[in-house]
Amino acid sequence: MTDAPIILGLESSCDDTAAAVVRGQEVLSSVVYGQTELHADFGGVVPELAARAHAEKIDLCVEEALAAAGMTLADIDAVAVTSGPGLIGGVLSGVMCAKGIAAATGLPIIGVNHLAGHALTPRLTDGLAYPYLMLLVSGGHCQFLIVEGAESFRRIGGTIDDAPGEAFDKTARILGLPQPGGPNIEAVALAGDARRFPLPRPLLDRPGCDMSFSGLKTAVLRARDAVVDEKQGLTKADQADIAAAFQSAVTDVLAEKSRRALAEYLTLKPACPAFAVAGGVAANGPIRSALESVSAQAGAVFTAPPLSLCTDNAAMIAYAGSERFALGHFDDLELSARPRWPLDTSAPALLGSGKKGAKA
Ligand code: KG4
Ligand code: ZN
Repeated sequence: MTDAPIILGLESSCDDTAAAVVRGQEVLSSVVYGQTELHADFGGVVPELAARAHAEKIDLCVEEALAAAGMTLADIDAVAVTSGPGLIGGVLSGVMCAKGIAAATGLPIIGVNHLAGHALTPRLTDGLAYPYLMLLVSGGHCQFLIVEGAESFRRIGGTIDDAPGEAFDKTARILGLPQPGGPNIEAVALAGDARRFPLPRPLLDRPGCDMSFSGLKTAVLRARDAVVDEKQGLTKADQADIAAAFQSAVTDVLAEKSRRALAEYLTLKPACPAFAVAGGVAANGPIRSALESVSAQAGAVFTAPPLSLCTDNAAMIAYAGSERFALGHFDDLELSARPRWPLDTSAPALLGSGKKGAKA
């Protein structure tokens, strides 16, 4: 892949400022400056603070990424930048930086959809062939995408309300466990009996691949309140049993909906069927193994990119940029920042956004 173009990628759409240098499937460098501490006291990302921090850090990120790759701008073939969706102030920081570099060097500029960056990551990490099925399952997202090409995504289902990660985080709060909820629920659930609390499996009785997780969270609240009313408190065993019941309900829903999504995907008769999961929730052991076995039953290869490439980073933006480069699809200095930019513009809007946080 040494003759592949060398792409500098920039990412600043939420609370991570990042730059990376990628050549084909080779990540030459990847620098990420997170802003978790900056927003810690506010219970969410504050757009104005985020934008200022991106503006302060983005040049530094570029310098560090080039230095770590042992390169200068003279070695770069194009600059790829997240041009949406996301917090407009942050997206603008990246876009302005990319335009500055392009204006000074004459390098081509490539605007990348942040979600396309996530969705194309399994090609960067595992070289998956199109079309593949992707489940993006995180704190802010839950959608099934058939990835048909670098610029062609078909959404065949998603959550109509909360994302599963959000439900994990809320369940942890209800049970008095620390954040982030996912890993803590998973750890506590190990000692639990999932059958003690029969929780619902929302939308399994309806056809299709749409999902719902907000009712599950309410059911968890009721289960906890019933125990508290009876015993004036929660024991460790109660906590473990509720956590296990919740995790098992989410696992069943994701597994069954993945089975349906795979069936729909397989009607395309892909030469190399593959199912990729990405997002923080994919780190969950029982969920991951359930998805893996559903995938095996359908005869599809299962992949899950490493967490460092699942969370926001610029290597995925540079890689997505290299795919657009190969297609000869460039932007110019007129490139604008788009706060909203669905991957599949033809898919009907979901009832709920399926995305509650700023993060994509
Ligand atoms: O993709 P991600 O890092 O970023 C955002 O969506 O912001 O996902 C974070 C989410 C959180 O809600 C977290 O609780 C969840 O992923 N998560 C997990 C696990 N690890 C992280 N959920 C279930 N089990 C886990 N082991
Ligand atoms: Zn993201």
